[in-house]
Amino acid sequence: MNTDYSDLGNAVQKDINVDSLWIINERSKYGKHSNVYHGNFIPQIPNQLIRRYTKKGETVLDIFMGSGTTLYECENLERNFIGYDINNQIIDFVKSKMTDTQSIKFEINCADVTNKEDFDATMLNALQKLNIDKVDFLIAHPPYMDIVKFTDQAEDLSRISDLKIFLEKFMAAIGNGLNYLKKDRYFAIIIGDIYKKSEVIPLGFYASDAIKKSFAVKLKGVIIKNIEGNRGKLGAYNIWKYRALKSDYYIFKHEYIFVFKKEF
Ligand SMILES: C[S@@+](CC[C@H](N)C(=O)[O-])C[C@H]1O[C@@H](n2cnc3c(N)ncnc32)[C@H](O)[C@@H]1O
Repeated sequence: MNTDYSDLGNAVQKDINVDSLWIINERSKYGKHSNVYHGNFIPQIPNQLIRRYTKKGETVLDIFMGSGTTLYECENLERNFIGYDINNQIIDFVKSKMTDTQSIKFEINCADVTNKEDFDATMLNALQKLNIDKVDFLIAHPPYMDIVKFTDQAEDLSRISDLKIFLEKFMAAIGNGLNYLKKDRYFAIIIGDIYKKSEVIPLGFYASDAIKKSFAVKLKGVIIKNIEGNRGKLGAYNIWKYRALKSDYYIFKHEYIFVFKKEF
């Protein structure tokens, strides 16, 4: 382990979850988190990962930053941040929330992270501004193929319904990001399985397998995180249960966090 926890203090260290099962019942809503973006992740995910794998003053790269959940956690935890998303509107929204920020350095931009030329150009510019060569942690929370559509742009991964094409494009994005991650540092993907044409597509396992086959990395953790939707709270659980039995499926209640260590 190359990360030093001495600056975290005892109380915070205790609070780092080292179990492979994360049951998180309530979404953190403090600070800038507003849960306005369909498909965002809960702040506890980047919070745990950032605290475990980086130190204060280091830099996190989020290649599918969406509504900025990782960025707000970086701000709270005093880590610098570089982030991209293909959705121009959400980038503008995040920029508007960050106008008061002084404690960290950050660079956020609209970019297609599957396109190497675009990626390299924006990344070199960001690295120059932050005065660093590479980043210390990479996080990737892609669309789960086409189950939630984000934009109408042709390069948006949420427009891809074909598994092979999705994995190729996702690996292109991961490869582009990994070029800027320091050797021996960590990266995490957050992904869920999907259901298509009457069967489960275990997207998480396919993506983890594709990463292992494409890059010199070690798989360090497979974490299962619960999904607490509002179905139960709305008293509609019995309807979902009825549908699941009738249509022969299980209700997804979990997502994966795969943690890897870059070895090149
Ligand atoms: C699951 S969301 C990420 C949500 C984010 N973690 C949050 O908390 O708000 C996936 C994001 O990937 C973006 N995206 C899809 N294709 C992309 C691409 N080719 N390049 C960059 N971003 C892309 C979408 O616009 C969407 O915001």
